[in-house]
Order: sequence, then C-alpha cells, then structure tokens
Amino acid sequence: MVENRIAVAGATGRVGRHVVTGLEQAGFVAVPISRSVGVDLVGGEGLEDALYGVDAVVDAATGASPDQDEATRFFVAAAQNLHRVGSSVGASRIVSVSIIGVDQFTAGYGVAKQRHEEEILAGSVSAQVVRASQFHEFVPLLIAWGTDGGVSRLQRTRIQPVAARAVAEVLVEAATADWVSDPERVVEVAGPREEDLAALARLFVKRTGDSVQIEEVVNEADPDHHLYESGALLPGASAKLAGPTFEEWLDSNDRG
Ligand SMILES: NC(=O)c1ccc[n+]([C@@H]2O[C@H](COP(=O)([O-])OP(=O)(O)OC[C@H]3O[C@@H](n4cnc5c(N)ncnc54)[C@H](OP(=O)(O)O)[C@@H]3O)[C@@H](O)[C@H]2O)c1
Repeated sequence: MVENRIAVAGATGRVGRHVVTGLEQAGFVAVPISRSVGVDLVGGEGLEDALYGVDAVVDAATGASPDQDEATRFFVAAAQNLHRVGSSVGASRIVSVSIIGVDQFTAGYGVAKQRHEEEILAGSVSAQVVRASQFHEFVPLLIAWGTDGGVSRLQRTRIQPVAARAVAEVLVEAATADWVSDPERVVEVAGPREEDLAALARLFVKRTGDSVQIEEVVNEADPDHHLYESGALLPGASAKLAGPTFEEWLDSNDRG
C-alpha cells in the first residue's frame, strides 16, 4: 500500500504538472522536485529533504539539452540519485516516464533515454518504466525547433500522440496502485489513433493563426530517420490507449 507522500521529479514540466494535480486529486501529498523549488536531481542539492518520508517517486524530469551526451549525463545522474536517496529514505518504488520505440534508436536523445531506462530499472528501489508516445504538447515545440525563415521543416513521422494529462493519469495509477506481485517492468501509453506529424502541425498553426508554413522533409542526415517513417514510434498491441485526440485537445482548455 502506498502511503501519503509521493515525490514528483520534474513537477513543473509538461507531464509532471499533471502528475502533481492528479496525485492531489487522489488525496496524496505531491512533493515537487525541480530546480525552481530548489531541488537539483543532478547535483543532489535539496534531494534528501524532498524525499524524506516519501513512499514513491514519479520521475518525469528531463534536462535542458536534447544533445545525446548532455542528456545521458542528466539521466544517469538523476536516476542514480533518485535510487540512492530513495533507498535511504525507504521509498518503495520509482515510476519513470520514457518514450515508445526508444530502444530502437542509435543516436541522440533516444540513446540517452535508453541509458535512463537502464539506470532506473537497475537501481535498488523497485521500478517501472512507462513509455509514452509524443505528447500533444510536444507538437508546437517541434514546429518551433524546425522553423527557419518562416518555414518549419518537420521530419516525416508516423506518431500516435497523447495528451500529457493522459500520460500523467497512467503515472499516478502506477505510483499509487498496490503492487501485489512484481509489475511489468515496461508498459506503454499512447493516444487514440495514428496521425501524421506534418498534418497535425498544419492543424495547429491554422488553429493558432501562426503564419509559419509547414514542410514535410526526410532528413537523411539523421541516422535514425527511417524509424520515424517505419512506425517505430507507434505503440505495441498491449499499450494503453487514451484520448483525447490531438484535434479534441486543440479544442479544449488543456493546452497550458
Ligand atoms: N515531450 C514529449 O513528447 C515526451 C514524450 C514521451 C516521453 N517524454 C518524457 O517525459 C519526461 C518529461 O518530459 P516533459 O516534456 O514533460 O519535460 P519538460 O516539460 O521539459 O519538464 C522538465 C522538468 O524537469 C525539471 N528539471 C530539469 N532539470 C532539472 C534538474 N537538474 N533537477 C530537477 N529538476 C529538473 C524541470 O524543472 P526546472 O527547469 O525548474 O528544474 C521540469 O519540471 C522526459 O523524461 C521525456 O523524455 C516526453
């Protein structure tokens, strides 16, 4: 049985903020972890105080850089610190969010996430990895990253995006449900249907009145470009699928 206090690493992030709300709505005390509240997962400052009396940890943090080496350093340090301090305070589990298909990547942030998963699953506290598909909230960021001179060039990608709030609900369930036996080590959550990234981006800019043009490209300089087109980011048959669709999310008040 999970007790009252659950820490949320990355509590101010796209998914972490919904984990905090979800835990509070379920009657738990959510203890926020982020640098903005004075807790650093990498250096460890403030972590012992934050995890004191905590029974479980939801790990929804990510560092500032998507660069493979920088992101790897972040995830390895953060995971090791969460296990070391979590174990010392008697935390019973860590639930960590990752990305569907990440095990197939050979370069970049995907490889950093592989190391993240390895460190989380290898630590002394029981752990589960929840692999999610791309968040609806990630589409505007991809548009911004791809923009140069009024055109946003986006890699041709098959995705099944999901609302960050829906991912948070799965994380809250995983962090609070009774684990009568060992849970599955890795589970998946995705949105309700497959979509095409460029089409979603066009929908987004049309709805928000942005003048940027969306151009679909195949970036052959990316050694993993074929994975985006082959469906490697799509969920497996046993994944949990959760709405809203991207379009429903656009229409909602949940875009913050
Ligand atoms: N975005 C997606 O579409 C997507 C899809 C699937 C899985 N995921 C995974 O979901 C996780 C969260 O992604 P997100 O997009 O929600 O992240 P995000 O919005 O960028 O939020 C990152 C969070 O981590 C915190 N953080 C950063 N550095 C920190 C540090 N040194 N110490 C403590 N906290 C730190 C940030 O707060 P401060 O800056 O205040 O420290 C913030 O709360 C990541 O592991 C990501 O790989 C993301």
